[in-house]
Amino acid sequence: MAKSLSLSFPEPDVALITFDLPGKGANILSRVVLDELASLLDELAQRKDLSGLVIQSGKPGTFIAGADIREFLASLGAPKSEVVDMCRRGQTLFARLSELPLVTVAAIDGICVGGGAELACWCDRRVMSSQAKTEIGFPEVKLGLYPGWGGTVRLPRIVGLANAVEMITSGQSISAVEAYKLGLASDVVPAEHLLPAAIRLIRAEQASKQYEQDRQRWSRPLDVNMTELGFLGATAAAVIQQETKGKYPAPSAALELMLETSMLPAEEALEREAAGMAELFGSPVNAALINVFFLTDRNKRDTGLDRKDVSAQAIGSVGVIGSGIMGAGIAAATLKGSVPVQLTDANTEALARGARQVIEEAAYDRKIKGPDPAKALSLAPLLSATPRASDLARADLVIEAIVEKEDAKRALYADLEPLLGEHAILASNTSTIPITRLAKGLRRPDRFCGLHFFNPVRRMKLVEVIRGEATSDETVATAVAFAKRIGKSPIVVGDGPGFLVNRLLFPYMNEAIELLLDGASIQEIDRAAVAFGMPMGPITLYDLVGLDTAVYAGMTMYQAFPDRIVSSPLVPAMVKQGRLGQKSGKGFFSYQNKKGRPEEDPAVQKLVGNYRRGERTFTRDEITHRLFLPMLLEATRMLADRIVRDVRDVDLGLIFGLGFPPFQGGLLFWADRIGAKQLVELIKPLEPLGPRFTPTPMLLEMAAKGQTFYPQGGAA
Ligand code: NAI
Repeated sequence: MAKSLSLSFPEPDVALITFDLPGKGANILSRVVLDELASLLDELAQRKDLSGLVIQSGKPGTFIAGADIREFLASLGAPKSEVVDMCRRGQTLFARLSELPLVTVAAIDGICVGGGAELACWCDRRVMSSQAKTEIGFPEVKLGLYPGWGGTVRLPRIVGLANAVEMITSGQSISAVEAYKLGLASDVVPAEHLLPAAIRLIRAEQASKQYEQDRQRWSRPLDVNMTELGFLGATAAAVIQQETKGKYPAPSAALELMLETSMLPAEEALEREAAGMAELFGSPVNAALINVFFLTDRNKRDTGLDRKDVSAQAIGSVGVIGSGIMGAGIAAATLKGSVPVQLTDANTEALARGARQVIEEAAYDRKIKGPDPAKALSLAPLLSATPRASDLARADLVIEAIVEKEDAKRALYADLEPLLGEHAILASNTSTIPITRLAKGLRRPDRFCGLHFFNPVRRMKLVEVIRGEATSDETVATAVAFAKRIGKSPIVVGDGPGFLVNRLLFPYMNEAIELLLDGASIQEIDRAAVAFGMPMGPITLYDLVGLDTAVYAGMTMYQAFPDRIVSSPLVPAMVKQGRLGQKSGKGFFSYQNKKGRPEEDPAVQKLVGNYRRGERTFTRDEITHRLFLPMLLEATRMLADRIVRDVRDVDLGLIFGLGFPPFQGGLLFWADRIGAKQLVELIKPLEPLGPRFTPTPMLLEMAAKGQTFYPQGGAA
């Protein structure tokens, strides 16, 4: 079998190990690769004639992307002792880099994360390339873990405890320049100068012998006092609590570990790191986050089609019609992807406002918390605003984001379609109107699809690509490729009311009102959803979406599924009173204070009282089950109807489109953890509430056969 690592000698006394996994886009540290490293280190340890060793990647733009997560997945059920062994083996192997009788330097070009960053930290020195893609970081917390091959021990000793705590608990990577500032990188040079820079460093270290002193220093406890530790512990814990809401144990575990082991010799610290890892590895949150990793990974590779013989068309320019909230957001995202955009709107004021917003958003810089003028100037030539939709005739893709009115959309298409090029694709951002219905009357319905973005476009990664009856595979592939090009995660969804995300959101929102009318309080309902991990409760979400919009969308769902959607009079009554939610200053909450914060409103209590059917009390579990089980049942109906191609699309769609909690792994992943049989049991007492709680044939069959939504053994 072809080797992943090669050994060469760019100079007689300098060894060079090159990582280059055959046939892979990135280098990953699988067991086989680590074994190869071990034998090369054996070989080098025999040599007495070497001054230094450089480690580099043979793949431009990626150094090492980390450990092999498929191996993690396969070991999720491993006993604790095996997890400890796995960590100890990695630590011992990497530690040899810091024990060789020569200077070790990692020459990093491109992404260097996770296990790759740990390997780099075990080297005496690191040099990094100045290209934009080069970064170093420890994203393990995003998988519910912390670095377990010595990262929590080496990093604090190299960059200081506070910096290490920030890098490891946030999971955020840093650039080469930032690494240089922290002392993590000794030099930053253009990629083509990396090897000479590494060799220069070896020569300098051999002259000064500074590396030998550092080896000594890094084997000892850190030089920190209790006051510093106390302060760092309190401030970091507060930041972590704010970020994780107590739902993700890994960052706190990493913090506690690093505070504790900072006072120990490195060898003891390493033992603690391995022992603590055994508590996180294989935990439900770890398993769920590994599932999310694979959901995202699969999505990146998915072309949107099961066949391989169709390719996406190139999109050289995009037209966006309607420059309101969504149109402006879509145009900004497109511009950020460096694709030229023509924007139009029937209302010239809205067009001017939209065009300004597009530039401001596309040029937004997080550091200055506003548009970067230089970026705005460079993007401006890519945007043209025109009052005439006919000016969009040359675009390869036209995205319609005008008002949600079927007649208006169809009239627009009738005027526009004859002007478009033969190859052009027309897409609608409609949130409720079936694509097949909108396609009626089009000359080329095969080149029409839904391209449903979520609000606010800049934050929401999900895009639903909706396939109408006549939509061609090429159109789907092109829409998917375009969405990816502008940094979104597209999923392909069959046509139907609410498509995927809104169809699953409805049963949940509908049930929140039913619970309210049955006697649960607004706070109890919202708290149960937030405790489950949702970013906000359903009642708060009503206020955010707008109660008028909710009524309108609810009508569509009611018409489609009259047996399952309860048409409650409460929300329409609130709309009648002008309680539209946040936008009108009052909805289920009142927002009429200086900061616009939600406050309880006695008038709402009274109104709810008018429609209440009962006053019974609810346990949190009961509320949670009532909110999420109808969502789950609806998902089984969608799977049975083949509205989605894969269970993973349901879970990814909900996580990226609704903020469904990643630590639950997704709706169907959560359901698998409970098990179909148990789900049927949980539903039984709710069945008298109506057909929305009738177990579906799919769930019953799964329960009878002991099946799971995911293939047994997990996501990969
Ligand atoms: P909006 O009301 O903010 O903007 C619509 C714009 O379209 C207005 O500026 C209007 O002047 C313009 N317009 C109306 N008729 C036109 C025509 N015939 N030709 C050219 N321009 C015309 O609406 P919003 O919220 O941006 O929604 C647009 C579409 O996106 C709708 O189909 C909506 O269902 C969908 N959508 C909305 C979401 C939201 O949260 N607001 C989320 C996802 C989809």
